[in-house]
Amino acid sequence: MKRLQLHALLLLLTGCSTTSDRVHIPLEGSQGKTIAHFYSGMIRGDKYEELIVEDSTGLGLRLSALRTVSPRLSSTLDKIREGGDRLNRDQWNRFLKVVVEQSTPFPETLAELFPSGLPHTMEDSYFRLKVYGAMTTLQREIYVPKQALEDGLLKYWDRGGMLQYPAGTVIAAYHKNSSGATLELTVKKRRSDGFWDFGVYDSSGRNVRHSSSPPTSYSAPVQCVGCHLGTMLYEPEESFIIGREGKTEGEYLVLEDRLRNPKLVELLDEHTRRSDHVLGVYGTVYLTEILNLPLSERTETQRKIASLFLAFSRIPQTH
Ligand code: HEC
Repeated sequence: MKRLQLHALLLLLTGCSTTSDRVHIPLEGSQGKTIAHFYSGMIRGDKYEELIVEDSTGLGLRLSALRTVSPRLSSTLDKIREGGDRLNRDQWNRFLKVVVEQSTPFPETLAELFPSGLPHTMEDSYFRLKVYGAMTTLQREIYVPKQALEDGLLKYWDRGGMLQYPAGTVIAAYHKNSSGATLELTVKKRRSDGFWDFGVYDSSGRNVRHSSSPPTSYSAPVQCVGCHLGTMLYEPEESFIIGREGKTEGEYLVLEDRLRNPKLVELLDEHTRRSDHVLGVYGTVYLTEILNLPLSERTETQRKIASLFLAFSRIPQTH
C-alpha cells in the first residue's frame, strides 16, 4: 500500500514537471522584453512576483505567478488560451485588453490626481516647456515637477550619467488649441519599478481611456507605449540642436535662443539616452535655465546642481 502511494506521488510529481508553467507570448527582442515587463509591472502592482520568463524559446508568462498575483486574470488567460501554451497576437491582445480594463493607475478626476492644485495654477513648482511634437498637431505645454527634475539632476553623476525621476512623479502635458483652450491632458506617473503609467483626462477633467487630439487618437497605455517604449528617436529639437537643424521634420521645441546650449545638449544627450523612459529633454533645458541665472538668483538646490555639473564637465560658466 505504502509503495503504491509512493508510486502515485512520484507519478504526480513527474506529471507536474512536464506540464509547463509558462505560456509563450508574441513579443520579441529587447523592445518586446521591455514591453512585457511594462505590462507585468501593471499586473503585479507592488507584489514581488516575477511574471515574465525568458528562455531559448522566447518570452513567456509564468502561470503559477499570475495565479498568485491575480486569480482573476489567471482564469481569464486560461479561457483565452484554451489549454494552449502559446498565445497568438489576437489572444495576447485580448488578454491585454482585460489587463488594461481592470487596472486603475489614475484617479477619476484631475483634481484627485493633483490634490494640491493643477500644474498650471502652480507655476513656481513646475518646470514648463512648450512643444510641438509627434503626438499631436496641437501645441503641448508640458509640466514637470521641479523637485523631481532637481532630484534627477542632483543624482545624475552618482547614477553614472542617468537622469531618473523619483517614483510617484507625475508629468502632465496640456494639449492646447490655437485660442489657448485646453482640450485634454495626457499624463505619465512614475512607478516604483522604473516604468510609467499612462493616462488621459478630457477637458472636463475626467479620466478617459484614449486621447482625442488631432490627427490620431491613442488608447492608453497600449498605443502610448508604442512610442514611449519604442526605439524610434524623436527629436523635438529641430530648432534646438544647433548644427543639426533640418535633419528631422515637423517636431521642434518652442525655445528661446538663450535656452539652446549645444554643449549641454551633447553632454546630456537626453533624447537618445532616455535613461528613464522619458522622451522630452526637460533636464537639458532646465539645466540651461539654471546656468543662465545669475548666481544670486539661484536657489540653494539650483546652486548645488550648477556646481555639480560644472565640476563634472567642462561647461563654461556663463555667470
Ligand atoms: C507618436 C508617438 C507618441 C505617442 C503615440 C504618444 N506619445 Fe507621448 N510623447 C511623444 C514624444 C515624442 C514626447 C516628447 C516631446 C513631446 O511632448 O512631443 C512625448 C511626451 C509625453 C509626455 C511628457 C513626458 C515625456 O515623456 O516627455 C507625456 C505625459 C506623454 N507623452 C503622454 C502620452 C500618453 C498618455 C500617450 C497615449 C495616450 C502618449 N503620450 C502617446 C510621443 C508619443
